[in-house]
Amino acid sequence: MSQVKDIFTGKEHAAPGKGLKGEITVPGDKSISHRSVILGSIAEGRTEISGFLEGEDNLSTIAAFSLMGVNIERDGSRVTVEGRGLDGLQEPTDVINAGNSGTTTRLLLGLLAGRPFFSVITGDESLRSRPMKRVVEPLTQMGAVITGRKGSSVLPLSVSGRRLKGIAYRTPVASAQLKSAILLAGLSADGETIVNEPEKSRDHTERMLRLFGADVKTSGNSTSVRSTNRLTGCKIIVPGDISSAAFFMAGAAFTTGSELLIKDTGINPTRVGIIDILKKMGGSIELNSVRESSGEPVGDILVRGSRLKGVDIDGSELLPAIDEFPIICVAAAFAEGTTRISGAGELRVKESDRIAVMSECLAAIGIKNTEIEDGIIIEGLGAKNAKGGTIKSYGDHRIAMALAMAALRTETGVEIDGAASVDVSFPGFFKLLSKVRFA
Ligand code: S3P
Repeated sequence: MSQVKDIFTGKEHAAPGKGLKGEITVPGDKSISHRSVILGSIAEGRTEISGFLEGEDNLSTIAAFSLMGVNIERDGSRVTVEGRGLDGLQEPTDVINAGNSGTTTRLLLGLLAGRPFFSVITGDESLRSRPMKRVVEPLTQMGAVITGRKGSSVLPLSVSGRRLKGIAYRTPVASAQLKSAILLAGLSADGETIVNEPEKSRDHTERMLRLFGADVKTSGNSTSVRSTNRLTGCKIIVPGDISSAAFFMAGAAFTTGSELLIKDTGINPTRVGIIDILKKMGGSIELNSVRESSGEPVGDILVRGSRLKGVDIDGSELLPAIDEFPIICVAAAFAEGTTRISGAGELRVKESDRIAVMSECLAAIGIKNTEIEDGIIIEGLGAKNAKGGTIKSYGDHRIAMALAMAALRTETGVEIDGAASVDVSFPGFFKLLSKVRFA
């Protein structure tokens, strides 16, 4: 079994600051990095990945495919995958431990459901409490045999893989992990597999499947794939993760003297909600050098500090910024007036219950807020700074990073309990922050 790091440890003091200045790049996109290893492993021939995110979650995906006999070499952020073809994957020699990674788990459940062998997936304490029924349900309809505790709704889950049949499935939630699980199962299913979503979730799987040669069609919120075992390895350049850039974008946006350029960042339209939300709050954000790389739009993001104002944010606005909820809450805390975020029920089943945890963390540093069932109402401080204090991240990387940014606008800074969790998606986060922070 892979050695999965304890992310609930580590203390870090995040210091106050006047703002952020300079030019940075952030580590590679987490979603795209996962997919590059998954598709590279089931493709024929070599896949060369650059800009791979060396986060704990992505290392869990590499470890899983190593257990299935795939030769994967890593030299920093350069990864070479010797694809074995879909039919070349071997029965894993041990339990797959996905650590903290929901993406590894859900995408693998889809892929493994159609492979002719037995596998078991588990994860850390947080992952073992996250809902898997949403994935198990459609896969079972396709003919998969997946069993586990609590009516096969949580990890550990065992998969007895077999040939599947294609289905047309309407997902109850807009979730890229769910959509991707069904599409990956569709590669081993007779006929066509169609996923209809209530709203369009991030589309990295579709884009990359096309790059590897799969027959994928998209129309509105509907995506279909046809069975194939002929994917071909390719070269992938992973852009910077906009969800990591988001912490720096917001930090620069709510500190008035800031000017920060974040280079080579993914700006896929299904991910740019943070740009739209910060602009709606009055933030100054420019996109430059927009181009396409490995089937994904990429650009440089220039943020200048300004005074933000409170706004209403609904579920549709939040979907392309689904992982940015914690840092949006922090931006709201330093805006003038009240921000009301609603339609955010999914945030209760992320790496932590992000609504409850953000409410607790904001209160701990002196920001008034009210938790509602599907969101939060935050009373912005306007030009004033917060007091500061100690927060618990509950092992959630994005909570730790959001509160580290909040520290900029506090009197005493923020003591972060569980700071090691940042390594899940952003190794080097604190170092990069101290490089661009000015006092
Ligand atoms: C992801 C999809 C999202 C996101 C997660 C990564 C992906 O989850 O929150 O961090 O890579 O597909 P959901 O599909 O559960 O919304």
